[in-house]
Amino acid sequence: MRLTISALLLPAAAGFFMPTPTVHLSAPLRSTLAPPEPQTETTETPLSPLTQWGSSLNSITSLQENARSMSYTFPKTIDKKELAVELGNCDDEIKWVKENAMGIKDAMVVNGAVVFRNFESMKTQPGFTEFYETLGMHPCLDPLHSVSARPTIEGSPNSKPSAVYEAVNKESRKNFFIGMHNEFVGTRAPRAAAFVCFKKAEKGGEFLIADGRRIFREIDPEVMQRLYNRSIRYSVMELPFFGWVDSLPSALRPSIMGALKGLASFAINAKVDFSVELLEQVGGYDNTRLLQARAPKQPPVVEHPVSGEATWFCNVHSHSSKLRKEREAIYGAEKFEDGASRINKSDMFYGDDGHISDSDLKHLDEVTNNNIQYIEMNEGDVVLLDNYKTMHGRNVFDGKRKHGVCWFGGWEGEEEQKKRQWDFGV
Ligand SMILES: [Fe+2]
Repeated sequence: MRLTISALLLPAAAGFFMPTPTVHLSAPLRSTLAPPEPQTETTETPLSPLTQWGSSLNSITSLQENARSMSYTFPKTIDKKELAVELGNCDDEIKWVKENAMGIKDAMVVNGAVVFRNFESMKTQPGFTEFYETLGMHPCLDPLHSVSARPTIEGSPNSKPSAVYEAVNKESRKNFFIGMHNEFVGTRAPRAAAFVCFKKAEKGGEFLIADGRRIFREIDPEVMQRLYNRSIRYSVMELPFFGWVDSLPSALRPSIMGALKGLASFAINAKVDFSVELLEQVGGYDNTRLLQARAPKQPPVVEHPVSGEATWFCNVHSHSSKLRKEREAIYGAEKFEDGASRINKSDMFYGDDGHISDSDLKHLDEVTNNNIQYIEMNEGDVVLLDNYKTMHGRNVFDGKRKHGVCWFGGWEGEEEQKKRQWDFGV
């Protein structure tokens, strides 16, 4: 038997943990015991930066009150056709981006996301690359780089290795509604991202965004305080292959499960750069004995690394097993090609491993859904977003969709921005 853990972690859901054959179980379990292969980078693109959690927040309720008095537009739209200056060819566009680079990056911080429409330059991968390089954004690798092979979109054959990744365009995932999430894996989170449309789907496939600061202020204060006090923890994977242990003599089961847990834990922790704890559970699709891998606990709200406001930084919408199942009932289940569905099963718990109540989940789902904006993107349209302030997702679609994404670990001018006093109308 050969089972592939295709997204060493996560969901199906997010694009967050992309399917990629990396770890094999049973017979091939042996292969996971070898140390990870040395990384032979063909690119100088740095790893995704470590997540910046900020300082601990003393009064969540008063921060929510402050957030309610903020005033800004979400997102900001820059439509080439509506600019005061007329931009002709691609060179004109890039020159304009260069001249307005700092203002655009300020808008990303203030507004959370900037939508570019009707630009010619970004219709191709090289043009998109020139756009974000001119803007002064610093690309980083996919946050799950150590175990993921999220495919990149190549430019011309002679260009340097691409930092532009495929968004979740696969035919097999077209009826999977990708819930709202900040790009985040274990301990790494890009600071920003630019999503580009090279070809829109025939139907649907809109890029989804939601304002994390607005979600934060709209969550019921009691629910918010409870989540912050207890913190949160993701289950990033389930290994549902241990039902056979129940056919062994009962006296043997604990030691066999202990050994299996040790092997699996070693294999997983060798592949990721954050610690994963395996918990024995009974459940899953056929109520079988399984091991559930849980990431370290973390706060659901963080202080923004540049401007300091509190923002919702919690992927419950995409990662909650219950919320995902409810969406599957509406849109249909994802069609997995490689048997990964049972492994790529994420969930979210309190940091003390307690279950979040159905009523709290329902409330979090409602607040998130109320804040989703469907961004219909045409060829060459780009959404530049602050990954801490703005969540993203993707609607279901029909036809062929080709969207790309570049993650950024930072940008020129960020240090100068950190020294400023930001005024959000409070
Ligand atoms: Fe994502």
